[in-house]
Amino acid sequence: MQESLYRLVYVSRNRIDENDDKLREEIAGILACSRRNNTQADVTGALMFNRGCFAQVLEGPHDAVQETFERIQCDERHSHVSVLSFEVAETRGFSHWAMAYVGENDTNIDEFASFAEESGFDRERLAGEQVYELLQAHLLEAEHG
Ligand SMILES: Cc1cc2nc3c(=O)[nH]c(=O)nc-3n(C[C@H](O)[C@H](O)[C@H](O)COP(=O)(O)O)c2cc1C
Repeated sequence: MQESLYRLVYVSRNRIDENDDKLREEIAGILACSRRNNTQADVTGALMFNRGCFAQVLEGPHDAVQETFERIQCDERHSHVSVLSFEVAETRGFSHWAMAYVGENDTNIDEFASFAEESGFDRERLAGEQVYELLQAHLLEAEHG
């Protein structure tokens, strides 16, 4: 029987110095490391950086997602890590990406603002789903122009 697929969505606050070069370099490093590890662990997903916050979707087998997230959570390059959802998923939303990346741009900056706020996560499941959908929409847009 096929192992169940899980999806975890979290948001966090950036602690990397927001000097452009330094930030770009660190994010490139995070993505390279993520792609290497996630491919090995059968984890796929997407990472967004916006307004000084990260949002990330991790999907894959339960233990692989959990172990990956536990490493990420301890990373000092971000703080205030807040899980919005961790549940069984029907399908992978990012099956082609070991870790896709959505950077800050004019169209998504405002949409993300409401998630990036410290408060307002009472409807946690909904927020997780919204972040997931937002990331998917922006990746599709990037792919299809
Ligand atoms: C916002 C953010 C997202 C990250 N995402 C991933 C990820 O998807 N997969 C991963 O393996 N590491 C990710 N990392 C890096 C981990 O925190 C950790 O540094 C890394 O997994 C250690 O890998 P290594 O033992 O191969 O050096 C992320 C870090 C940050 C700050």
